[in-house]
Amino acid sequence: MSKFNNKFFSNIWVSAYELYGFYTRITNKYTPYMNLGFQVEQDVEIEDEDKWFQPNINLYYKILQDNKVKNTSVLEVGCGRGGGCYFFVKYGKATSVYGLDKSNQNIKLCQKYFNSKEYKFSIGDATDFKLNQNFDYVINLESSHSYPNLLNFYECVKNVLKNEGLFFYADIFVSSELKEIESKMEIAGLTIVGKENITDGVVKSIEKNSIRWFPFSTKYPKLTPSFVKVFNASLHSDIFKKLKNGELQYYCYVVKK
Ligand SMILES: C[S@@+](CC[C@H](N)C(=O)[O-])C[C@H]1O[C@@H](n2cnc3c(N)ncnc32)[C@H](O)[C@@H]1O
Repeated sequence: MSKFNNKFFSNIWVSAYELYGFYTRITNKYTPYMNLGFQVEQDVEIEDEDKWFQPNINLYYKILQDNKVKNTSVLEVGCGRGGGCYFFVKYGKATSVYGLDKSNQNIKLCQKYFNSKEYKFSIGDATDFKLNQNFDYVINLESSHSYPNLLNFYECVKNVLKNEGLFFYADIFVSSELKEIESKMEIAGLTIVGKENITDGVVKSIEKNSIRWFPFSTKYPKLTPSFVKVFNASLHSDIFKKLKNGELQYYCYVVKK
């Protein structure tokens, strides 16, 4: 979503996530997932207590493309409120999960809700981070659309990925920019080994869940700024319309170094 991939919009995005996280903390309205979800014919099997988040969990499951995280170390960059990290530990049986996010409020929520020994969370910028550990898997789900510098992000990922490790990457992309994004991954020293257009399942998830997720935003007032409509991917949002008409596409990549 190129016009948002600059420092100015990046700060607006992260401030919006901060406000949303703050609101969540003071109202106690915690939800662990922030992605658009994925609609499949056969849902992933999960326990009743997680069923409300079935579409979000389906999406995490989908981006792994049948790879198993059992007994691995996982880093999620842009971990949001920790739902993905929880998924990797509870259902994937990962040994350890490290969640990194630029939003201080989101990291506070992660630390409050996921505090057993498998989890570690810290505040960090996806485009400028170093960790003194390497990981079997790096995950980035629906977070990179607001990064001001994707090349820096891919370089940071390469630096923390083990030699045999894999990077699972999924987001909304401007269709006409996919080639440029893929070449940035190559320039950073990464190789794409799998790629799937999953727009259809994400669009179906928005169609099915939008009213439940965004009950007050079925229609926007005339002067609503466009970034609000992008942030809030309801049925009447620009993002939904563009996913439907092909201007935007939701892709997931499996990448090695
Ligand atoms: C749509 S949420 C997705 C969160 C999570 N992956 C999920 O699926 O629930 C995007 C997250 O990316 C984070 N983010 C945005 N820009 C970032 C940056 N430059 N560095 C690290 N995290 C960032 C936001 O704070 C937010 O938590």
